[in-house]
Amino acid sequence: MHFPRKVRIVEVGARDGLQNESVPVATATKLELIRRLSDSGLAHVEAASFVSPRWVPQMADHREIMLALRDGHANSTTAKSATTYSALTPNMKGLEAALECGVREVAVFGSASESFSQRNINCSIAESLERFAPVMEHALKAGVRVRGYVSCVLGCPYEGEIAPAEVAAVARELKAMGCYEVSLGDTIGVGTPLKAKHMLEQVSREVPITQLAAHFHDTYGQALANLYAVLEEGITVIDSSVAGLGGCPYAKGASGNVASEDVLYLLEGMGIETGVDLAALARTGDWISRELGRPNGSRVGQALMASC
Ligand code: HMG
Ligand code: MG
Repeated sequence: MHFPRKVRIVEVGARDGLQNESVPVATATKLELIRRLSDSGLAHVEAASFVSPRWVPQMADHREIMLALRDGHANSTTAKSATTYSALTPNMKGLEAALECGVREVAVFGSASESFSQRNINCSIAESLERFAPVMEHALKAGVRVRGYVSCVLGCPYEGEIAPAEVAAVARELKAMGCYEVSLGDTIGVGTPLKAKHMLEQVSREVPITQLAAHFHDTYGQALANLYAVLEEGITVIDSSVAGLGGCPYAKGASGNVASEDVLYLLEGMGIETGVDLAALARTGDWISRELGRPNGSRVGQALMASC
């Protein structure tokens, strides 16, 4: 069996993790979370979404968050220059606002399911790609990197099964437009390992595996097993969320992303490097869970905190 020596973690807790919280989370708390995350050695922290505040009220403070990060008010004390803070931008309005805040990396988010695309961003898959084209063009001209997401890669809350060929087609378009990486989202966490492997095999015929990331939610408790399966296929980038925070407002029942602490524990056990301090991350997971008044969604985080 062949596994990568190093994996890059994209920490999505401050965005995917918080976007579904029904009680408003103070901007200062979000900034403190982001600071702690980068202090633990995470080199990529997705920090905000430039989306409509009517659609996702929790992300309404995107401007304050990204300006504070640009100006260094909340940056990591230890990893200040090393952390990339990115934000979601579904259209030109979002991109223009992000550029005004000095954002250096953005993400567009599409879907392999027509119904999810309509519910999430109010347009068809084809229309979404048309919207992304100018976003991509302007971002790249401004020297801003663009990541792409494909949702519902292992199933859709409205359509059920999604054919891997549909995933591959959207991933190919995002790559062709100029996304440096395409993150494959099991939005509702329904995947299982062999399915994940099969999907990845098909997608990697269109986009090199070195430009793909695994973004798995843990609704059915399969995320770690799915990650093990795709690591075996050669995936080297994993999206995860501290304390397993999260869900998607337009995917009813979607639980959090796989917990970052659980991913790190798995990777450390396999001798795979990440550059992230697991103990520090576990303390952050414990802290944010208390702040939000919810149980810590990381099994590893719970175990580590119980033993100290
Ligand atoms: P729309 O209603 O079709 O857009 O929404 P519109 O252009 O007709 O504009 C309607 C209103 O929204 C206008 O305001 C615009 O100004 C405003 P009004 O005149 O009514 O007051 N607006 C905006 N405001 C702020 N920022 C913007 C923006 N654009 C328009 N960028 C839109 C289209 C995409 C805006 C909307 O559907 C939306 O905001 N959706 C957000 C969906 C979302 O954030 N979902 C969660 C993230 S995706 C996810 O979690 C999955 C992922 O984790 C991977 C996985 O797990 O699968 C990435
Ligand atoms: Mg997600």
